[in-house]
Amino acid sequence: MSVKHEGIEYPCALGTWFSTIGNGPCPDVGMWMVEPDLDDHGDRIMDIIHIDSILPFYVNKLGTWSDEPPMHTWQQLGSFGTWWVQMWEWLWAQWRAKMIQAVRILEGACAQLCVMLARPNHTTVNVFETNCLHVALSLKTPDILQEKPEGMHLTEISKHSGVEQDKLARILRYLASNHCFREAQRTADPIWGPSYAPEHTAWNKFSKQPQSIYTSWQTPEACARGERFGLAMLGWGNTIDGSAIATGYPWQDLGKGATVCDLGSGVGTMTMELARVHPQLQLKLQDMPERMVQAKNTIWLAQCPEALEENHIEFKAINFFTESPIPGCDVYYLKNILHNWPDAECITILKGVKKSMKPGSRVLIHEYILQSRVRAAATESNFMQAPELLLANYGIGKLQQYNLDLTMLVLCNSKERTLQEFASLGEAAGLRFERLWELGELAAVEFRL
Ligand SMILES: C[S@@+](CC[C@H](N)C(=O)[O-])C[C@H]1O[C@@H](n2cnc3c(N)ncnc32)[C@H](O)[C@@H]1O
Repeated sequence: MSVKHEGIEYPCALGTWFSTIGNGPCPDVGMWMVEPDLDDHGDRIMDIIHIDSILPFYVNKLGTWSDEPPMHTWQQLGSFGTWWVQMWEWLWAQWRAKMIQAVRILEGACAQLCVMLARPNHTTVNVFETNCLHVALSLKTPDILQEKPEGMHLTEISKHSGVEQDKLARILRYLASNHCFREAQRTADPIWGPSYAPEHTAWNKFSKQPQSIYTSWQTPEACARGERFGLAMLGWGNTIDGSAIATGYPWQDLGKGATVCDLGSGVGTMTMELARVHPQLQLKLQDMPERMVQAKNTIWLAQCPEALEENHIEFKAINFFTESPIPGCDVYYLKNILHNWPDAECITILKGVKKSMKPGSRVLIHEYILQSRVRAAATESNFMQAPELLLANYGIGKLQQYNLDLTMLVLCNSKERTLQEFASLGEAAGLRFERLWELGELAAVEFRL
């Protein structure tokens, strides 16, 4: 039924009224009891009312919303509007408070779970997120990308921002693995900006040293830093679970007396682990002269004297850019060496190794190996991939790789590499890629002649 007044149609209903019995709902069923309203003649009272006012009328009539006296039907539409807005806001506030609390609990729980389950360095070494964000924001990357919300090729972003493409890529991929999206604009130094020379680094700018970081540690003023770094690498080896290679690679198959040259051994972080687990191996440590003195006279004497006593170990200084390592070893093992150097220097080191190899010698490169965030078919992936829905490279679960990658950029103008990049380095040095060994936090690439 509807009523027309001054050209407006009002949808209405014919209603009969009820009054409540008693002052509250029935204690057994929780519902109000009602009886029909009657006029003086005992007839049911009826009204024509706007259908929008039915709910507030009942609310008003039943006294659940206010203690005010019942309204006239003509007041009830406005009352309904107010009631509905208030009710909605109240519900929204309740829901919002619950939601915020639930998200907060989930955030806290996820972070706590990660801290409990992941290796300690995942918690303690997270230094680049804000720096990367700063670079991305100062380069106005989000503004640049706004022009093409569907995405922009790196070369184009690099052209807009004035930052060398590969360096920019490394900042962006760190952020991509961290579930962020950003970019930055900065006036790049025309010589140092695109340079990959080991002495054109942010560290050089900061320290005002003219040489690469390792060369500078050979100077009398900085040799104490080199010594401290040697010790730090012992601790670092533990945090990244470097020792997984002692059990994850089949050293026992090499046979008794097999020779392993740890090239760029530092004080012998990994060789010490090998000496403990595989005392049948003949170990040869090679690093800069200062590290060899520190290793032989301090570290091994204190931590693994039996290897010295039993003559299982040899220390021989080297500059791996100008000399080849000890010839004829069964394994040339390089842990966290190539990531310190740009491609050209890596190829020089590997060519030096190749000269010393005999048929059957292996080269093991042990470091982080960057895994793609894009999922590959299971049969085509060299790596174990994260379960569906996660980034294929485990995202934040493997963020340390990108932390170290940026550390390498800042300190050495070098980088962490993908498997393909390692294979290309090997090929350029005349070595054949044999296989990848996944060893937990790190991985190893094996080359042969
Ligand atoms: C990151 S550390 C790795 C040490 C060790 N492999 C480890 O994982 O604990 C790099 C090592 O390369 C050595 N190194 C740097 N330049 C070198 C050179 N030209 N010849 C020989 N060793 C060098 C450094 O002294 C340092 O010990």
